[in-house]
Amino acid sequence: MEEIILKIEDLKVAFDTEEGDVEALDGVELEVKKGTFHGLIGETGCGKSVTGKTVLRLLDNNARIKGGRIHYGNIDLLKLTEKQMEKQIRGNEIAMIFQDPGSSLNPLFTIKYQIEEAVSMYSNLPRNKWNQAILEALQRVKLPDAANLMHRYPHQLSGGMKQRVMIAMMLACQPQLLIADEPTTALDVSIQAQFIKVLRDLKENLNLTVLYITHDLAVISELCDYVSVMYAGRIAENLTTRDLFKNPQHPYTDKLVHSVLGVTTTLEALEEIPGSVPRLINPPAGCRFHPRCQEAIAICSKEAPPLQELAPNHTVACHRR
Ligand SMILES: Nc1ncnc2c1ncn2[C@@H]1O[C@H](COP(=O)(O)OP(=O)(O)OP(=O)(O)O)[C@@H](O)[C@H]1O
Ligand code: SF4
Ligand SMILES: [Mg+2]
Repeated sequence: MEEIILKIEDLKVAFDTEEGDVEALDGVELEVKKGTFHGLIGETGCGKSVTGKTVLRLLDNNARIKGGRIHYGNIDLLKLTEKQMEKQIRGNEIAMIFQDPGSSLNPLFTIKYQIEEAVSMYSNLPRNKWNQAILEALQRVKLPDAANLMHRYPHQLSGGMKQRVMIAMMLACQPQLLIADEPTTALDVSIQAQFIKVLRDLKENLNLTVLYITHDLAVISELCDYVSVMYAGRIAENLTTRDLFKNPQHPYTDKLVHSVLGVTTTLEALEEIPGSVPRLINPPAGCRFHPRCQEAIAICSKEAPPLQELAPNHTVACHRR
């Protein structure tokens, strides 16, 4: 049986703001299988980054985790202390890469120094193995002339190279699970393509597990095995990538794929779906998608539909399915 490395159950997160509580996550449910790439998609503001950050407990100060469980193997991450998260989980078990690699590298230190620092903090490797691990990680992401490159400073590298350094830094720490939050958005298109090749190589050769947050359906179709579709802080549908394109069941997923695909493969074109994502301070009652849904019936504005299993690896939250 396939091993589940990450299981999020009924996760609820709110932010305190002057205008009121932002109900950013309201009962998120998803499972990531070991050795797979799992995409997380949905329009801007639907809660993708908050989901990723909650797993690593890297939320802003005004956040409150109101309920739920995040199982990483047998550990409930929400029960760990901050110290345990830092010592046992971040970096060496679960690592996260963000959209803008430039902001994550310190301009004052060489690449080698920064990767070493990460390895010293997050991995269990003995010191005499660090050099080799750093070199191997840089080579694995196909950075040319890694032995010399590691002595350079971030400003001497291109955006695409910096992004690979970030991946190498993460690989050198040998995490089990990587959360990648729109890692290609800041890169130009040709570099994106190379970056995706690097990730595909890591998937095939290292059995890496990745939760991949993106707006880009082309990336999903190239890299991901499974996908979770979010809408306004909830999961609308969990399904295989094949079903995402061939057999979407939730009206939102269906619109997402069909109205967008002909025009462009990114979710930026979502004006195609009438209306916009509701503000999460006062979200619509019932199914949060109902004001935009052409299939809505009376119950949709009253009761939130639970996620139900349609088939193995396919759950959907819709009263009409
Ligand atoms: N610190 C915060 N204070 C208040 N609201 C917040 C805070 N951080 C996030 N939010 C809100 O939580 C919701 C989910 O945000 P999140 O960043 O997860 O969206 P996203 O799906 O990652 O969007 P994008 O595709 O634009 O990155 C949004 O409504 C956002 O405004
Ligand atoms: S529950 Fe109702 S409103 Fe929500 S997606 Fe299904 S049909 Fe549309
Ligand atoms: Mg985001």
